[in-house]
Amino acid sequence: MNFMLAVVVAAALATGAKAPAKAQWDPRDDGPDRIDVSSWPPAMQQRYPVFLGKCAKCHPVARPINSRFDAAEWKRYMKKMIRRPNSGINEEQAADIYQFLKYYSTKQGLR
Ligand code: HEC
Repeated sequence: MNFMLAVVVAAALATGAKAPAKAQWDPRDDGPDRIDVSSWPPAMQQRYPVFLGKCAKCHPVARPINSRFDAAEWKRYMKKMIRRPNSGINEEQAADIYQFLKYYSTKQGLR
């Protein structure tokens, strides 16, 4: 391996260790990327920014917003998302986001 190639590979590995892998494009990514939470209970409104901040790292936050998952599906999905390398989501944040998404699913008419 020549020197420049080694530098490029080392740089790629260093970046990869911090930034999570980007998810491939999905049609949901182009949908609305906001939820109107103005009429939601205050506890739910407080969780909204946690969701916006944490669930937009690897794909647009539009992906979960335009998904129709019920509480059980969200529970399964939250586990999957926080296990991903460098998700940057701890257990407490995951619990908050799960409560938020569970409420969102009832607003979508799911349970
Ligand atoms: C570390 C990167 C990463 C983070 C952080 C992340 N996701 Fe994902 N997510 C992915 C990848 C990669 C996919 C596509 C592969 C898949 O569906 O598992 C995906 C797919 C999804 C899907 C589509 C699933 C389906 O099968 O229809 C939803 C919904 C989703 N993510 C929700 C979330 C939520 C909610 C959060 C915040 C708690 C989140 N994601 C945070 C990487 C991430």
